[in-house]
Amino acid sequence: MQGCACGGGERGTQVPRTKSDNGRIVPVIAFFNQKGGTAKTTSTLNVGAALAERGHRTLAIDLDPQASLTMALGVDVLTLEASSYDLLVDDTVEITDVARKTTIEKFSVVPSHPDLAAAELQLLNTLERERALAHKLKPAALAALDYEFVLIDSPPSLNVVSINILVAADYLIIPIEPHPLSVMVLPKLFEMVGRVQRLNPKLQIIGFLPTKVHGTSRLAADMIDDLRTGFPDLLILPSIPLSVRGAEAVAAYTSILAYSPKSPIAEAYRQVARKVEKEIRP
Ligand SMILES: Nc1ncnc2c1ncn2[C@@H]1O[C@H](COP(=O)(O)OP(=O)(O)OP(=O)(O)O)[C@@H](O)[C@H]1O
Ligand SMILES: [Mg+2]
Repeated sequence: MQGCACGGGERGTQVPRTKSDNGRIVPVIAFFNQKGGTAKTTSTLNVGAALAERGHRTLAIDLDPQASLTMALGVDVLTLEASSYDLLVDDTVEITDVARKTTIEKFSVVPSHPDLAAAELQLLNTLERERALAHKLKPAALAALDYEFVLIDSPPSLNVVSINILVAADYLIIPIEPHPLSVMVLPKLFEMVGRVQRLNPKLQIIGFLPTKVHGTSRLAADMIDDLRTGFPDLLILPSIPLSVRGAEAVAAYTSILAYSPKSPIAEAYRQVARKVEKEIRP
């Protein structure tokens, strides 16, 4: 594996490919990569929109203080009364208190707020601070709500909020963009996942989601080769092509599927949603 520092062969940090064997009724799927700008937010929004288009009631939880997902859905963060920050730090706040419908049918969001950046410090003094989110996403609590899928948009960091996400999630999808550094950050990510699996043994990695893939660039093909060689047990989801439609859809406060339904990038996100559904519910 040329130039790859991924260390994917290390036993103990690598996670087997997922199959639906944890019996969860409402799967919690986090889009996770500590590297910035890998299209976590774009993918949470558009895989969510694709699941919703397939008729599944889907909830996306924005757990990034940048609140990009929240703003992309046209929610005004400055006038928010409650957000994912409250969900994390306030024992009395439940999902139903913070979830709201979006303009996309069957797709709801728990908005984020810049205050979430302070959650780190606030959680430091809390008992079981890694489990704050998991408590709110208990299977019984989710089963009582009207969602079939819960997606999480993660921040580009490995902090207490990120650990909360790993402890609460059933599945991870790792959006990754073709860049020489993308594969190099993976050992740190897998080390963290390996450690958290002691707290959350049900956590499984669905696989990698190559994003911003330029059809004629060698970079993407090389990265996918490196991922196949370094992580043979993990799935590589259908690639998302490089496209300006994502940013244009954000400007229109909607998904790429609604903004440009027949574009190759919309179709790619539909394929990813179908694959995810099949992996989780074979
Ligand atoms: N397929 C794509 N083609 C071109 N640009 C894209 C694509 N997907 C996302 N982008 C752009 O890349 C940038 C980063 O995307 P996004 O915000 O989804 O990444 P992120 O991983 O959530 O970033 P962060 O780590 O800051 O949260 C944005 O400007 C977005 O519009
Ligand atoms: Mg983001």
